[in-house]
Amino acid sequence: MCERTKKAVNVGLIGVGTIGTGVVKVFQQNQKVMEKKLGFPLKLKWVCDLDLERDRGVDLSSYNRTTDYLHILEDPEVDIVVELIGGIHPAKEIIIEAFEKKKHVVTANKALLAEEGEEVFKRAEENGVDLGFEASVAGGIPIIKVLKESLCSNNILSIHGIINGTANYILTKMEEEDMSFEDALKKAQERGYAEADPTLDIEGVDAAHKAAILATLAFGSIFSLKDVYTEGISHIKYADVLFAKELGYRIKLLSIIKKKRQEVELRVHPTLIPVTSSLAGVRGAYNALSILGDVVGHVMLYGMGAGMMPTASAVVADIMDIARDIAKGTSNRVPLLAHKKLEEVSLKPISEIQSKYYLRFSALDKPGVLSKISGILAKYEISIESVIQKGRKENGYVPIVMTTHEALEASMKKAIEEIDCLDIIGAPTTLIRIENNLIF
Ligand code: HSE
Repeated sequence: MCERTKKAVNVGLIGVGTIGTGVVKVFQQNQKVMEKKLGFPLKLKWVCDLDLERDRGVDLSSYNRTTDYLHILEDPEVDIVVELIGGIHPAKEIIIEAFEKKKHVVTANKALLAEEGEEVFKRAEENGVDLGFEASVAGGIPIIKVLKESLCSNNILSIHGIINGTANYILTKMEEEDMSFEDALKKAQERGYAEADPTLDIEGVDAAHKAAILATLAFGSIFSLKDVYTEGISHIKYADVLFAKELGYRIKLLSIIKKKRQEVELRVHPTLIPVTSSLAGVRGAYNALSILGDVVGHVMLYGMGAGMMPTASAVVADIMDIARDIAKGTSNRVPLLAHKKLEEVSLKPISEIQSKYYLRFSALDKPGVLSKISGILAKYEISIESVIQKGRKENGYVPIVMTTHEALEASMKKAIEEIDCLDIIGAPTTLIRIENNLIF
């Protein structure tokens, strides 16, 4: 063992919220085994939080404690700074200041990387330091390392992911406990999955942040939140869950990341997937990702995508990875984004995608209604695969559910716009895309 490897690698933690507390717990539970695996000491030296008095259920007394992150950045013994305060500011400034002081950084901050990643990655490179971000996508599931290292001999062709546990929990409860979206959301909040303001989770933004990071790693070009077509689940009705079931599907908030030739599809939206697929079997707050590589074929990863200990597991894995490099006197052994720019790729606008669709019309129950709807679909070259109409309502509207064969999104949008103007239609039509080609 060389001299450097006998010295401790020192860590400073900024942000002792849920995940930060989990990181402290990992150090307290597993430090011995971690050090055995590393072959040198790894020390949590500092903890920083604006409120150090709050009872977190962990004893912080053996660490240097501060409310000022500069104490950590200015300590020459600190090798790795762990940023777990979240949000874009001041997290970005803290991280960049750490880089400038030649400290490596580990973060779980998906919003920062998806919205300001280009600058953050560039500043890490300029300073010759490493940035670990395994915990930014899918909590405890090691998807970042898999894309950067394990599958590095592959061209990644597609990733299909359930990467928002809150939305998956809500959709699961709606189906399994016959609940409305609103009741399932309330339950998710009671269980601590959904925040008091659940917008980021239910409107798909959290999943879109993660999808942008995954596409960046998969396709060799930097993608950001604005590149991701995003729809949430708040408009999904219990009736849609039931109709989907009748048709042999389950509704999931799916992140779809695909490349064909040089064109990338990057989208997050509710999706009907075959009930027989493994992704359809992902229940509750679990996450899963199905990755297709041109060499390996399909790989599926499954696990807890959020929560204190699963996310802390990912944070500490990054700390240990970087500590190994420090001990060997190297850094950035694996390029930050797994590649220097691989190739020029372009983003396919959502209007140009081809998909199968589930449509739920709210229409008057009288003769000629179906032919009016199908006439407009035919005009836009949309071919119907199946139709369900159930129940009769006197003087009222009934749901008519159709599935279509593959059609161009732009044509589908025009057709729906026209159908929704018909006087036989009582409410905006619900459109959900169908993804049938899942191996898992
Ligand atoms: N709010 C996220 C989820 C976890 O529900 O999956 C943090 O990324």
